[in-house]
Amino acid sequence: MGAEPRPSDAFVLSFLADDPPTDLAFDEFLAPAHRDRSELFWTPVAVAHRAAHWLAEAGAREVVDVGSGAGKFCVVAALSSPNLRLVGIEHRASLVWAARVLAARFGLGRRASFVHTTIEHPRLAMFDAVYLFNPFGENLHAVEGRLDESVELTPERMRRDVRLVEHVFEKLLIGSRVVTYFGFGGRVPDSFVVEREELAGSDVLRMWIKRRHASRGRVWRETDGGVELCDARLGEGGT
Ligand SMILES: C[S@@+](CC[C@H](N)C(=O)[O-])C[C@H]1O[C@@H](n2cnc3c(N)ncnc32)[C@H](O)[C@@H]1O
Repeated sequence: MGAEPRPSDAFVLSFLADDPPTDLAFDEFLAPAHRDRSELFWTPVAVAHRAAHWLAEAGAREVVDVGSGAGKFCVVAALSSPNLRLVGIEHRASLVWAARVLAARFGLGRRASFVHTTIEHPRLAMFDAVYLFNPFGENLHAVEGRLDESVELTPERMRRDVRLVEHVFEKLLIGSRVVTYFGFGGRVPDSFVVEREELAGSDVLRMWIKRRHASRGRVWRETDGGVELCDARLGEGGT
């Protein structure tokens, strides 16, 4: 890490001054291999900045980023909203390491930490907010559209992981927030309502809040035009 660039105070403060840097400027702090993947795989700075503000305004404190990649979302969110603590879970060890290096470069300490694990981790429902940027879409990509071949990637794994996320949603406490960007491939139970949504980056950023313990048998499906409620027993899949 010694010869790697360190952010200037002005750069760090720009997040708090609501004038965050461009993706090009931020990505300079990523390793070159991860910089090249940024446009497709990591949340744009402006989107992460916006999501962090929504989450902080909604009272979130501990946010888990499901599939945290090179740490871009967690680091930008932590820099943008000082009251948030970000925890990234990621199944690729090399990305967990890269994310820790990135967070250390910005001196974030415990405000942004990264765990090498999968969505099966039992503590996920204990966070008060969950962020999802299409973490499982890669399961459907052809080999050349994948980050690498170091983990299992199959449509069956995607179905399994989507089901696990839906299960986490059922266990989250009332008041929990879920933010999606490019969805997650599944459905959100009707115990949640859409609290905020707007066009951001190249898709829609949406924040859901859990309002009731149990679902009434319906689910929100993300469509190209927005969201719609449908019977939970109707076919699987969503975005
Ligand atoms: C589209 S990237 C998003 C990265 C990060 N959230 C961001 O916005 O910058 C999705 C990430 O999820 C990770 N991932 C996919 N499935 C996972 C799983 N089941 N458990 C943990 N990580 C997973 C991938 O390795 C990839 O790094």
